[in-house]
Amino acid sequence: MSPAPLLALLGVTFLWICSPLPGVQALDCQWGVLESVWNVSELPVRWTNGKKTCGRGEGCQDMLMLIENGPQVNLVLTKDCTSAQDQEVQVTEHRTGPGLSVISYTHVCRHRDSCNNLSTTDAFWSPSPAAVPGTMRCPVCFSRHNCPENAPEQICPEGHTHCYNGVLKLRGGRIATNLRVQGCMPKPGCDLLNGTQKVGPIDVSENCNPKSDTLTCHQGNMLQMGRDLAQEPVEWDSSTDQMCNAGEVCQETLLLIDSGNKSLLVGSKGCSKAGAQDSQAVSLHSWPPGVLVASYTRFCSSDLCNAARSSSVLLTSLPKPAAPAPGGLQCPVCVQVFGFCSGSSNFVTCPKDTTHCYNGNIDLSGGGVSATLSIQGCMAPTSRSLLNHAQTIGIFSVHENFEDNKEYNPEPIFPSGVSQATYLLWVVGLGLSLGLWCGGLCPPY
Ligand SMILES: *[C@@H]1O[C@H](CO)[C@@H](O)[C@H](O)[C@H]1NC(C)=O
Ligand SMILES: *[C@@H]1O[C@H](CO)[C@@H](O)[C@H](O)[C@H]1NC(C)=O
Ligand SMILES: *[C@@H]1O[C@H](CO)[C@@H](O)[C@H](O)[C@H]1NC(C)=O
Ligand SMILES: *[C@@H]1O[C@H](CO)[C@@H](O)[C@H](O)[C@H]1NC(C)=O
Repeated sequence: MSPAPLLALLGVTFLWICSPLPGVQALDCQWGVLESVWNVSELPVRWTNGKKTCGRGEGCQDMLMLIENGPQVNLVLTKDCTSAQDQEVQVTEHRTGPGLSVISYTHVCRHRDSCNNLSTTDAFWSPSPAAVPGTMRCPVCFSRHNCPENAPEQICPEGHTHCYNGVLKLRGGRIATNLRVQGCMPKPGCDLLNGTQKVGPIDVSENCNPKSDTLTCHQGNMLQMGRDLAQEPVEWDSSTDQMCNAGEVCQETLLLIDSGNKSLLVGSKGCSKAGAQDSQAVSLHSWPPGVLVASYTRFCSSDLCNAARSSSVLLTSLPKPAAPAPGGLQCPVCVQVFGFCSGSSNFVTCPKDTTHCYNGNIDLSGGGVSATLSIQGCMAPTSRSLLNHAQTIGIFSVHENFEDNKEYNPEPIFPSGVSQATYLLWVVGLGLSLGLWCGGLCPPY
């Protein structure tokens, strides 16, 4: 089934994939989700809607919530099938303005197809009348990330003597948002919602001490390809932040693959599922002579603690072997993210002490990354695979497939004079599962 553009709003097109149930007599409902911040002057907003065929007995549901905050309005719209009972159109002023105000529209119906037909805000909303300005000034902000340090200020309406600073949690109806809100209120306290806990299908709650249960983490992915990423540090910055769900921690993961002349860095920063322990590690999964695979991983639990700014966090811990003497073997060398290595690419003379060529793929997923890395290079006699059955590297799930040449010596051997423990460079942290980090080559403790 091909995706169809079904909800178009002022030039923004949203793609949904419909899955009608053929042969079942059921209601068609309008379908879509929208969350955005508007200038008051841009309202009323109109939108066109997607459509979905519901399950038998299901009704159509409409929910719109508007939070007005001085010059801005945050709009949350969800339309879907529902098993909830029919409910007349209900418009509720949860908190009246001026200052911060909250209003919602909810409806559940079954009387005809697409009866959840709300398509504009002007049916029930008009801007608050101009308020008499008071003397108080408060920052004004709506954000799914962090409010800026110096959010623009507004002059509060007369009688508004307190600045609100909290996080609204919206969960349900395919919405899962933490919305940071700053604005003017007539009273102190954490009471923007005026006791409201449910709006249509959405559970709402607020928290004005966000540090107590949610963390903010740097967020972003990085992908770099080059010749000498194993030698030259590159910037690893993220311009955005992410607010985590309760219990989550921050993570940063950096994976380096270097097959001689071709190298690749993949990085991810963001929130990580609840349960990860504070830890930090650099691991060598495969090492010279031959393809180098190394990773840096960190899980931590204070605001913006995943703050490594360059790949040197990994590079400074890598062994610095002297330039290897050339050996007698030739292998194709390749590291690809988009597309596969072709059989006859770029042959190089392998370093001494390599005995076979590697040709394989690593599927990488998690932390906002999904990619297949295709790798060719020279291999030392000690290793056949690059990851040694590791299944996770930091936030990434990994899965390796490689050409296994049965003619080649099947017994792994370690180079003389080097203990296995050398390959686990360092691991800091409590409760860290070593098996996870050292690619199967764990020190004997
Ligand atoms: C909203 O209004 C402000 C001025 O009040 C303006 O600077 C800003 O560009 C407007 N934003 C949008 C998205 O129209
Ligand atoms: C809070 O809600 C009650 C009804 O539940 C309403 O009477 C009251 O006006 C609301 N307060 C504000 C400030 O809007
Ligand atoms: C939605 O449907 C009702 C009838 O069920 C109709 O009275 C109303 O005008 C419709 N609204 C829009 C915006 O089409
Ligand atoms: C790297 O590439 C250069 C030419 O592009 C070649 O001369 C050299 O042998 C290669 N070195 C390795 C280690 O593959």
